[in-house]
Amino acid sequence: MTLETRTTQRFARFRRLRGSEGLRRLVRETRLSPEEFVYPLFVVHGRDVREEIPSMPGQYHLSLDRLAAEAEELRSLGVRAVLLFGLPAAKDDAGSEAYADDGIVQQAVRAFKAADPELTVITDVCLCEYTDHGHCGVIVDGEIDNDSSLELLARTAVSHARAGADLVAPSDMLDGRVAAIRSALDGANMAETPIMAYAAKYASAFYGPFREAAESAPQFGDRRGYQMDPPNAREALREIEADIAEGADIAMVKPALAYLDVLSQARQRFDLPLAAYNVSGEYAMVHAAARNGWIDGPRVALEILTSIKRAGADMIITYHAKEVARALQ
Ligand code: PBG
Repeated sequence: MTLETRTTQRFARFRRLRGSEGLRRLVRETRLSPEEFVYPLFVVHGRDVREEIPSMPGQYHLSLDRLAAEAEELRSLGVRAVLLFGLPAAKDDAGSEAYADDGIVQQAVRAFKAADPELTVITDVCLCEYTDHGHCGVIVDGEIDNDSSLELLARTAVSHARAGADLVAPSDMLDGRVAAIRSALDGANMAETPIMAYAAKYASAFYGPFREAAESAPQFGDRRGYQMDPPNAREALREIEADIAEGADIAMVKPALAYLDVLSQARQRFDLPLAAYNVSGEYAMVHAAARNGWIDGPRVALEILTSIKRAGADMIITYHAKEVARALQ
């Protein structure tokens, strides 16, 4: 018998490496791990509150006494970071509870740190949940006044860091906030507290469910005067560049899915860690379709998070964190 050595190859056989899960696993280019997830949470005043948010099935308003159990569940799933949002007891025109030492987020930071000191606690720094008009800054003559808002945002970040936050995340999209927060933190002896800047945050309709959850919908006008215009990608790179120059340690692109091109370009251009926020509307769409039996929810969630990682995110802020962590176990 002679061995047939004649070249038989006429085309590439990609299917060779798709034949078994073992082979597929070996050649997989993108892997997800719960360690890179950040789980957003909505904390409320009161006792024994665990109320499902109607527009975000599976997500809850939680009172402080429920946070230890939450921390334990996250630990068991391998999700090691949370991003905190707070619903204040009262709103006013200066968003006072945002920077109060006993504000809801400040208390939640302490509660999480007491429950699990190793959990990374990130706080959203913004005024919109705390102002009666629902905008992310203060209003002067009917307009969102950039420069007078910076001081309040900086105060908010410092009070979060004082309460023990590991990372502060300004989401307001006013100009100069990263520099203002950096110098306030440095001046308050917290030079080691890093900043995750919502650097490229678009004026997106995908935030709808969040605004219901956080009761933060603007009472007049909209956020297009400070958040980015969806068609712009080059501008996002300039925003990220500016935030890096102002002292951001991590830059975020938000929302994620409709902006994967922006994320991918940012990945090619910048070397700092990048975060992507898989926002409330992206989450709600998956759940709504899954409830109707139109898609396989867990598989779609996994595919979405994989696409965000593949596009270049180092970490993904996602309401799917727990369910996908469970699927990966
Ligand atoms: C606050 C803030 C918003 C989100 C995160 N921080 C809402 C907004 O800008 O209107 C959206 C998060 C989500 O939709 O999941 N400024």
